[in-house]
Amino acid sequence: MPKGLEDTDGSDIPIFKISNIDFRPFIAIPICYIVPMKRPVRPLLGIFLFIVFVATLSCRTIVRRGLLSLELESKVLVQDPVPVFNATLLKYATIDLDEEHSKQEIQQLLDGNFGSHGRHRTFASWRRFIHHDVTARSAKGIPVMPRSPMFYRYWLQFRRVLHDWARKKTFQPEILLELVRLVKHSVDRHNGLVGSDQRYSSCAVVGNSGILLNSGYGKLIDNHEVVIRLNNARTENFEHDVGSKTNISFVNSNILHLCARREGCFCHPYGTNVPIVMYVCQPAHFLDYTVCNSSHKGPLLVTDPRFDVLCARIVKYYSVKRFLEMTGKALEDWTSAHDGAMFHYSSGMQAVMLALGICDKVSIFGFGKSDSARHHYHTNQKTELHLHDYEAEYALYHDLVEKPRVIPFLSNKFKVPPVVMYH
Ligand SMILES: *[C@@H]1O[C@H](CO)[C@@H](O)[C@H](O)[C@H]1NC(C)=O
Ligand SMILES: *[C@@H]1O[C@H](CO)[C@@H](O)[C@H](O)[C@H]1NC(C)=O
Ligand SMILES: *[C@@H]1O[C@H](CO)[C@@H](O)[C@H](O)[C@H]1NC(C)=O
Repeated sequence: MPKGLEDTDGSDIPIFKISNIDFRPFIAIPICYIVPMKRPVRPLLGIFLFIVFVATLSCRTIVRRGLLSLELESKVLVQDPVPVFNATLLKYATIDLDEEHSKQEIQQLLDGNFGSHGRHRTFASWRRFIHHDVTARSAKGIPVMPRSPMFYRYWLQFRRVLHDWARKKTFQPEILLELVRLVKHSVDRHNGLVGSDQRYSSCAVVGNSGILLNSGYGKLIDNHEVVIRLNNARTENFEHDVGSKTNISFVNSNILHLCARREGCFCHPYGTNVPIVMYVCQPAHFLDYTVCNSSHKGPLLVTDPRFDVLCARIVKYYSVKRFLEMTGKALEDWTSAHDGAMFHYSSGMQAVMLALGICDKVSIFGFGKSDSARHHYHTNQKTELHLHDYEAEYALYHDLVEKPRVIPFLSNKFKVPPVVMYH
């Protein structure tokens, strides 16, 4: 149980009520211990004494039972603590500092306003991609006309998808219970199966940390029913350490966006048949989504915005909590330390959360770092991105393995499956 945290939901009160009931036999004890008088025993008194005797016996039994249930009760209490969360932290973690800005951006996009430089680039690459995809490129590379029928079709689709997405962005922790329907059913249908409500028996979520090199985990990873990989990390030449099977490719939309601009990448490096689950980090990336979706044969699913909100709150809670514990600074200082509005959970974190929702057992590989290991097993990237708080996420994984009940924001109806972390 986190130190010094206040109780916010009072849900442990009923347990004390049960204790009250158990204490009643003790109140009855004096009545049970009437000492027999030394006069000759008359029949009536004999009957009375007999009743007292029987009462004593049953009182004892009740007392014993009472004690037993008290014991059981305290055991249950020790084994299964009612989680307590600091209300201030919870409240702070629910604030989305980017909300206003994001709403404006979505509205501008829906209005067809691609004003800013960054978005203009997206827009340009989108046109080029449609051009590249649909018509033969002219020698001068003249972009497709913005008002061409093809453009218009993508445009309508983009607006519809973005609009639906923005509308759904609310906090609804039960969303974890819906991931089987939202993700697994789609994958099942793609594999020619009827979507079953059974979860996958086991899943491996494979991160991209350099700690995987020389691990020899390849076979172990591939032995899971489903393997989830992150951000298009390569497996060729690394099979011995990372395995070769990919059932779900989990990416953030920036990966798809960069890929859409690169010829030969074509959005789907594991092949057009491997299902992709994508988390949208910038609304403008729906442009890339519509383009990639048209050429992908397997499902290309966008994470449900309610799932995004849940992940964002959990990671922010861990980040703020850790920040306060490590620095001793004030709550308000967290924003500047973590570039508040840009702060985000990593793809790896959401892929793990996805696995919790669709698998009976979850194994995590290639998460974490070591001084002797590269940042990524497949690139030479040196540093981590600052918009993520990996330390906070490691703290979350630790709780997933050891004591999932202390994780905030999860629905009581959701049962966290067993999680194993491989280092
Ligand atoms: C909750 O966290 C806030 C911020 O760190 C702290 O000021 C407050 O004392 C904490 N509340 C309790 C009951 O621990
Ligand atoms: C996972 O991928 C392997 C290899 O592509 C495939 O044989 C298997 O059927 C897939 N399993 C599921 C549940 O999709
Ligand atoms: C993505 O493509 C699939 C198959 O081509 C299609 O059924 C689906 O509606 C598309 N998704 C969106 C959101 O347009």
